[in-house]
Amino acid sequence: MKDIAIRIGQRGNLATLETLYPAAFPDEDLLPLVRALLAEPGSLVLSLVASVGQTLVGHILLTLCGVQGCDAKVALLGPLAVAPDYQQAGVGAALIQAGLREVETYGVSRVLVLGDPAYYSRFGFTPESEVVPPYPLPDEWREAWQSLPLGAATEQVAGELLVPSAWREPALWAA
Ligand SMILES: CC(C)(COP(=O)(O)OP(=O)(O)OC[C@H]1O[C@@H](n2cnc3c(N)ncnc32)[C@H](O)[C@@H]1OP(=O)(O)O)[C@@H](O)C(=O)NCCC(=O)NCCS
Repeated sequence: MKDIAIRIGQRGNLATLETLYPAAFPDEDLLPLVRALLAEPGSLVLSLVASVGQTLVGHILLTLCGVQGCDAKVALLGPLAVAPDYQQAGVGAALIQAGLREVETYGVSRVLVLGDPAYYSRFGFTPESEVVPPYPLPDEWREAWQSLPLGAATEQVAGELLVPSAWREPALWAA
């Protein structure tokens, strides 16, 4: 789709996001997480929205995190949602690519995601085993835990992912 505009999310977008997330995820309530992430200090969470014309059609969040015992700056990608009528048109890809570019400018050397490998592998994400999530994942989600190094990053990053409070909710990491 042409003319997908990506920009930094604003406080005033929340009402639209309250409709977008249930439409994109009819079986899962991600709004408590989205609200909690948007309430974290702005320096920790990057919120990007995608618009086509005047319509907000997609949203992504990336949270800046640490790794225990490491100096590395990493980011946790998600959630990501695209309005059903605008899916399969490059909106998700545009949000991911913009998000990766933006967090790289913050010095982030690796981005982690818990998501469908069939989708995220398209962007170069591969299974992650050195950085471990804050709560143990169920076996069926092991393949869903992935990462992507950014830029010329070569440093070894290993240890437990240190997440801000919005992500310290065991149910978010359980099937
Ligand atoms: C998953 C989602 C974010 C993808 O965004 P999108 O804008 O629809 O996808 P894009 O247009 O960027 O990419 C579309 C391509 O990815 C593929 N794709 C989309 N979702 C996929 C999935 N779960 N697994 C594998 N491939 C997938 C499409 O087949 C399409 O392939 P093509 O380019 O070869 O035709 C979006 O569909 C969505 O919000 N879905 C509902 C919520 C959801 O499942 N979110 C999961 C985020 S982990």
